[in-house]
Amino acid sequence: MTAASRSPKDFFRPLALGAPAPLREIPARPSRAIHFFDPSNPKMAAKIPDMVGTVDVLLGNLEDAVKADNKEAARNGLVEIAQGTDFGPTQLWTRINALDSPWVLDDLTTLVPAIGDKLDVIMVPKVQGAEDIHYVDRLLAQLEAKAGLDKPILVHAILETARGVANVEEICGASPRMQGLSLGPADLAADRRMKTTRVGGGHPGYLVREDPPRVGGVANLEASRATYQQDLWHYTIARMVDACAMHGIYAYYGPFGDISDTTACEDQFRNAFLLGCVGTWSLHPKQIAIANKVFSPSVEDVAHARRVVAAMGDGTGAVMLDGKMEDDASLKQCLVMVELAEQLAAVDPELKKQYDAIGADSDEQEA
Ligand code: GLV
Ligand code: MG
Repeated sequence: MTAASRSPKDFFRPLALGAPAPLREIPARPSRAIHFFDPSNPKMAAKIPDMVGTVDVLLGNLEDAVKADNKEAARNGLVEIAQGTDFGPTQLWTRINALDSPWVLDDLTTLVPAIGDKLDVIMVPKVQGAEDIHYVDRLLAQLEAKAGLDKPILVHAILETARGVANVEEICGASPRMQGLSLGPADLAADRRMKTTRVGGGHPGYLVREDPPRVGGVANLEASRATYQQDLWHYTIARMVDACAMHGIYAYYGPFGDISDTTACEDQFRNAFLLGCVGTWSLHPKQIAIANKVFSPSVEDVAHARRVVAAMGDGTGAVMLDGKMEDDASLKQCLVMVELAEQLAAVDPELKKQYDAIGADSDEQEA
């Protein structure tokens, strides 16, 4: 802590008189798919009430992908949709415009009084450092106090600038409002001067090639050799996951722009899931199904995790299961899986049926 920092004792104090007290823990609410919609598009907006209950998070997007001429219509459209819809178990998020844009002040001063009681999370794009979070934190506290809200609105930052990546830990720890981070591969690629032109996903040029075969000790450089595409986003996602875990908040993949390539989309989402992310964005209804599948532990994994939990008794020592050693640390991994399955089963009746069909001492093996 530097001499100028706030005392840790003050970290959970409201930043404005009358603002709701910050949460001490960020609730682990299912958020496998954050489905983006443009509230200025009447066709899209009309579908939102029917999507309640079919997706974990609905996000009214005000930033990129909304034309400058439609910014006001998007903001007002979101207010109208939120006021007229009962979201039940589905969370309502929004992505506001960038902090240096001409629209963001009106975004916040309109949305918080009008629909602050319905908004769970505000996604802030192009975050560069803790100072951006501090700005939003104080402004939200003032607006919440003025609107008489009794529950704080949480903040989610998009990691999409090189400086943001360099400051990722301080961004996650900048406010008790911080709920999580998403990868913003399109803006991040531009900011880093990466030589890609895509929204998320891999690139065929980013690869490793196997060594040439050797004949009589001499490398045959003419022989054909297998290549393996590498993941451009591995480093950033891994950093993001560690920063989020260290601050008790959640990491998400982001947009996958090639809507037609559902296979590569599923692969990217699964890499993120395996590395520790809890969800991703959906830019098209068909990506919701992919996200829900990938970010829900498989029945086989849950069956295995429950077997380990049952076999480990008080959780100490080691046991052998199917020829593999299980101990305190593998038990902890299995508990992550079991707890996630329980949270998801609570909101997803179809998944609950599948998980309930597994007995605690099931003999199902890992796939
Ligand atoms: C998302 O906002 C991105 O820039 O990828
Ligand atoms: Mg972006």
